[in-house]
Amino acid sequence: QKSAPLPDDIRAMKGGKPIVSLTAYTTPMARMMDAHCDFVLVGDSVGMVLHGLPSTLGVTMEMMILHGQAVARGLEHAMLVIDMPFGSYEESPEQAFANAATLMRETGAAAVKLEGGQHMADTIAFLVARGVPVMAHIGLTPQSINTLGGYKVQGRDAGADKLLADARAISDAGAFSVVLEKVPASLADSVTNDIPIPTIGIGASAGCDGQILVVDDMLGLFTEFKPKFVKRFGNLGEDGEKAISAYAAEVRARSFPAPEHTFADQAPGKSGGKG
Ligand code: KIV
Ligand code: NA
Repeated sequence: QKSAPLPDDIRAMKGGKPIVSLTAYTTPMARMMDAHCDFVLVGDSVGMVLHGLPSTLGVTMEMMILHGQAVARGLEHAMLVIDMPFGSYEESPEQAFANAATLMRETGAAAVKLEGGQHMADTIAFLVARGVPVMAHIGLTPQSINTLGGYKVQGRDAGADKLLADARAISDAGAFSVVLEKVPASLADSVTNDIPIPTIGIGASAGCDGQILVVDDMLGLFTEFKPKFVKRFGNLGEDGEKAISAYAAEVRARSFPAPEHTFADQAPGKSGGKG
């Protein structure tokens, strides 16, 4: 039984066996993936996936703390990383530190993740110098959809140089790994070969040092939309709806509950028992 890796252990996986990760938002989901993942991310995707928000912009510190605590209770082997929500870190390194410390203190997360490249480098260095391991996130950064102009592929053409500069800046600033979201595969490979920290791909390349997906997407539970980069490894949404429709039919037919689901007046072999 191995204990959870630390950010330095994840960093040391650069160029080695692929790093496996998923998002989680609840204790049972965390338990399901604990033995299979190197790290688990409490993503701010929780806002869209579990709370029905139209984007991640409405996610609060309170939501991240509650879901982070739930996920922490389900993990024993995988490292816990938690997203900093929109508005909790962009204003200043000091603001970022205060909120990162709150997230780590309340959830026990080993590291935080924040979105942004060169413009977040000073903040990343400030956090790392003060004991907060940082996973960066570049390429498509969903908290910036309103300035990026939607969920487009990032880093094509002229954007390639910027992505590489972003990757170098956050690596130099001391981030222990970086998520590359929705960038051309060849660019993801170039970044992976260029920087000394692991790249975690989502809509990037099999050549990245690791992969991540939103767990509800890959289980087929979140079906509102399916990005091209999502592969459904299950169809839990369909299975769940079938189960619910069977339940509804049995209730309407009075075939559920059946005798084995109901209680007698007396416990068998006792008098006045709880039954
Ligand atoms: O919030 C999230 O789920 C994420 C991952 C998809 C990288 O940031
Ligand atoms: Na996120």
